[in-house]
Amino acid sequence: MDRLYIPILVGTVREQRKSIDAAHLIEQVGKTIEGIEVELVDPKDFTFPGDGNDPEGKDPRYTAIVTRADGFIIVTPEYNHSFPGTLKRMLDSELDLYTHKPVAFAGVSNGGWGGVRVIESLLSPVRTMGMVASFRDMQFPRVQDLFDDNDQLQDEAYIDRIKAFYEELIWMTKVLKAGRETIPSKFHQIKG
Ligand SMILES: Cc1cc2nc3c(=O)[nH]c(=O)nc-3n(C[C@H](O)[C@H](O)[C@H](O)COP(=O)(O)O)c2cc1C
Repeated sequence: MDRLYIPILVGTVREQRKSIDAAHLIEQVGKTIEGIEVELVDPKDFTFPGDGNDPEGKDPRYTAIVTRADGFIIVTPEYNHSFPGTLKRMLDSELDLYTHKPVAFAGVSNGGWGGVRVIESLLSPVRTMGMVASFRDMQFPRVQDLFDDNDQLQDEAYIDRIKAFYEELIWMTKVLKAGRETIPSKFHQIKG
């Protein structure tokens, strides 16, 4: 069986972003897990002109990543109890390519809630895009204390939490991939 391809979508391009440390940690742990290939997808590296998913509003490199993806991880800070516009713009650039693929969320905040509200706020859009959400999230509260000035993790307990987070997503990824292969591709499109 081919390795499962799981892109890790970064939620923000904010210059001083700390959520990138959480994304890198999730990537690093993912690279130690057999049977999967992970890749950080940083919106800084892509261009999405305008709004929406018209052909001229896409970045072909992102289209290729989403086409190939078996499942997704979204690592996002919470901005005003919601998701950054950058993340929504990137997600909005595609539609049918997400259908019947799983997604797991990692929320990041400088306060104590660890982005629980941004995760809740993402459930509705990803469901509309046809994705299936994992019940196992990661929270990174007080992110400014969790990584030092050299971006080094200060609490090793996160490693096992991230492994458990992957375990559930990988199970969903296998099940949904097998399910997608049993029915024609036309079924994996948003209708109406
Ligand atoms: C525009 C903006 C809105 C924010 N709103 C929230 C919020 O609603 N809840 C929260 O816990 N933190 C909020 N924060 C603080 C973030 O938790 C903090 O910036 C943290 O480092 C994660 O985001 P980052 O990747 O941008 O650094 C906000 C930050 C910004 C820049």
